[in-house]
Amino acid sequence: MAAQRDTAGKIVILTGAGISAESGLGTFRDEGGLWAQHRIEDVATPEGFARNPRLVHDFYNARRAQAAEAAPNAAHTALARLQADYPGEVILVTQNVDGLHEMAGARAIHMHGALEGALCAACGARWQAPPVMCPDDPCPKCTRPATRPDIVWFGEMPYFMDEIAAHLEDCETFAAIGTSGQVYPAAGFVQEAAYAGAHTVELNLNDSDTSRSFAEHRVGPASRIVPQWVDELLTR
Ligand code: APR
Repeated sequence: MAAQRDTAGKIVILTGAGISAESGLGTFRDEGGLWAQHRIEDVATPEGFARNPRLVHDFYNARRAQAAEAAPNAAHTALARLQADYPGEVILVTQNVDGLHEMAGARAIHMHGALEGALCAACGARWQAPPVMCPDDPCPKCTRPATRPDIVWFGEMPYFMDEIAAHLEDCETFAAIGTSGQVYPAAGFVQEAAYAGAHTVELNLNDSDTSRSFAEHRVGPASRIVPQWVDELLTR
């Protein structure tokens, strides 16, 4: 029984866009996903932002508006319950920039930033993003019109990597939920955890690029298989 191998040791969970799919937010690489509708180099790179900041702001304004209408699903709620009730530490790392983990009552490490964050490209100031951001919005600190979404783009270093690496080194269970395993460094977390001796489990609707690196697989929609997994962890 794979679940028997889970102890009350630290659990590290990585989530991707798939956990928010049943909340109505599109994923990136599934059929008709965001990267089928937009070019990454135009809306998710510093070069794209420098070339056309309005296009980038419009892309994130639309995602911010969509996320504001979305509600957490049973998978988000189950992870919040796990963080609250599990006897060991539960570290939730998300690649997602929506706020659905927090809306469900969980604490998440946002390695790719958050739609609700704004950043000044000139002075580095951070503040709560307004619902709609425009290229000539002045930075509240240095007043220069250099504001950008506080989102980590391709070619930029994700946030909190040292903290995440430390958690991966001493976790007893590593789970990846709803991620295609195509973007590093997140896609390499399973190897880091396995190398440290953790039991690894993938929860996904389909196989991912890193499926073969996981010891255990649970296949199905997150809103069904994540609550089942959490129930097993809490009643083992
Ligand atoms: N339940 C579980 N898994 C699902 C569901 C669902 N209902 N729907 C889709 N999935 C899975 C898909 O099978 C796929 O493996 O979610 C994954 C979505 O993969 P991607 O669209 O590539 O999203 P993600 O892995 O989060 O992308 C990682 O890439 O573009 C960057 O910064 C962006 O954070 C993002 C990163």
